Amino acid sequence: MFDAHDFSVPEEWAKRAHADNDKYLEMYQHSINDPEGFWGEHGKRVDWIKPYSQVKDVSYDAKDLHIKWFHDGTLNVSANCLDRHLEKRGDQVAIIWEGDEPTDDKSVTYRELHAEVCKFANVMKSRGIKKGDRVTIYMPMIVEAAVAMLACARIGAVHSVVFGGFSPDALAGRIQDCESNAVITADEGVRGAKKIPLKANTDKALESCPDCTTCFVIKRTGGDIGWVEGRDLWYHEEMAKASADCPPEEMSAEDPLFILYTSGSTGKPKGVLHTSGGYLVYASMTHQYVFDYHDGDIYWCTADVGWITGHSYILYGPLANGATTLMFEGVPNYPDSSRFWQVCDKHQVNIFYTAPTAIRALMREGNGPVEKTSRKSLRLLGTVGEPINPEAWMWYHEVVGDTRCPIVDTWWQTETGGILITPLPGATKLKPGSATRPFFGVKPMMVDHDGKELDGACEGNLCIADSWPGQMRSVYGDHERFIQTYFSTYPGRYFTGDGAKRDADGYYWITGRVDDVLNVSGHRMGTAEVESALVHHDAVSEAAVVGYPHDIKGQGIYVYVTLTKGFEPSDDLRKELVQWVRKEIGPIASPDLLQWAPGLPKTRSGKIMRRILRKIAENDYANLGDTSTLADPSVVDDLIENRMNR
Ligand code: WT7
Repeated sequence: MFDAHDFSVPEEWAKRAHADNDKYLEMYQHSINDPEGFWGEHGKRVDWIKPYSQVKDVSYDAKDLHIKWFHDGTLNVSANCLDRHLEKRGDQVAIIWEGDEPTDDKSVTYRELHAEVCKFANVMKSRGIKKGDRVTIYMPMIVEAAVAMLACARIGAVHSVVFGGFSPDALAGRIQDCESNAVITADEGVRGAKKIPLKANTDKALESCPDCTTCFVIKRTGGDIGWVEGRDLWYHEEMAKASADCPPEEMSAEDPLFILYTSGSTGKPKGVLHTSGGYLVYASMTHQYVFDYHDGDIYWCTADVGWITGHSYILYGPLANGATTLMFEGVPNYPDSSRFWQVCDKHQVNIFYTAPTAIRALMREGNGPVEKTSRKSLRLLGTVGEPINPEAWMWYHEVVGDTRCPIVDTWWQTETGGILITPLPGATKLKPGSATRPFFGVKPMMVDHDGKELDGACEGNLCIADSWPGQMRSVYGDHERFIQTYFSTYPGRYFTGDGAKRDADGYYWITGRVDDVLNVSGHRMGTAEVESALVHHDAVSEAAVVGYPHDIKGQGIYVYVTLTKGFEPSDDLRKELVQWVRKEIGPIASPDLLQWAPGLPKTRSGKIMRRILRKIAENDYANLGDTSTLADPSVVDDLIENRMNR
């Protein structure tokens, strides 16, 4: 472990910061001792149409579970991200778009973005889309993705963004689950000079979504696409006819803003539901404090809008704060692995936020690609998505940040809406690999297996004891599942699914998921999802999926497959099954290693003992534990003998 005092920021830097340590402690205490008072005050950072008189109405009791913030207030999220900035910063750039090719970029001012959003809101209205309807967005990282999201917010439609890397089946499942009647896509996406057939995927998905009767198509590449008359509409043609006058819909604080599907421990992804008022207050406040955002800063988060990071920290947080936010269409290693830093120089980026997996991959390419760029504009670095190993942290700090930039290691989840555990730059002493301390209003709690609260330095499961404004409100269409998933393991507390350590300074070190959820390159995936994709294949009789440590991805996907009678193991079949999973879910779910398993270790009652499979995948046979309760202990020897060489 590294010493805390090695990483303090320069004096000038600290003076400019929104908080020093004393201020952090004072504000934190206030937020915990008097949440009503604290959030009553900070809720005013957004513009309300009708101000709230109620701040917090929350019960974590499973029998009466409800979470409401500012609930008698009304507002419009798009008006907060656009209209309210027009007077002061209408001509300031809202979005810098950097295309896949380094020669391709553009800037959109707040005024231009506002006009575009109003027009598209009118386009949607003209197709009968209205407040409360669900609209699915399946787009590349282009400005129109932001326009689509904000236009939904403007008319009160609930967006569900589906990451462009997901398969037609995955898209269809999400459209069906939330009963979307419209989808917005592009002809093709482009990443790393490769085309992604978004419209073709959408056409395929819509074959099984008869109720989805509108498909808006943005022309990105001009490639050949199919067309369904009456259903499909070109974005540019509709926009040419639309008026730029569209008053924002008055929304109640607790009206849904968006649904975002994420993986859990069952096969079916859940629709995480976020609402309007509390979410925006929390996203904007965390964006300001965690990134020490000041007017005029150029801010870049490299995530995709298909993930929560893109929602809260490319779009809603930064735009609510009137920031200039950069949207990047490409990948870190195209045209070469210097790209991130070239973009930082080109657009004079001050704040840069990315994932540990990207840092590890770039670190592998050596210092050359970094050092040939200036990076003088950088002031602050951030990470999100998975634990960052101290080596990668140090490289990020020393090589990318020239030892000058603090790093904020931000821990949070799709469910939390915004960052919960993080340093505040300038206020928090950094320890490489630790997400450090809770943000205002967040009350972490460490518990053991039985739910007993642990004190002081400890290791256990991470819960949050009370609500914060950005918390998810429900699982779309299945409130019972919401209660079951998050509030039943440890009654009365929100269970994160993560394990953690807390050190003597009260710093948190997230150790990773303790449930059947994998984190592969920062992408979240349920083992059950991959298993259910595999067993759809005729050759597969049974499948078990576990994670194993992977140098770049954090976790890799290790698959054990038992074949159906009549099928023989072969390299061709192995390749076919890997392709199958890519087709069923998407490339992010590609198995890294696939082992033929004539039998799986099961208890006498038939339950697969994943613990043993995990140990084999981790190459840790010494700690297999007790195998005597297995129905057939000999299967373990076979699995060890035939494990995939690495
Ligand atoms: C899971 C949530 C929040 C946006 C990206 C991922 C892991 C996230 C960290 C971090 C260690 C982290 C956790 C969490 N995670 N950030 N800084 N240190 N682990 O959102 O897809 O909902 O995944 O990502 O395991 O539970 P998500």
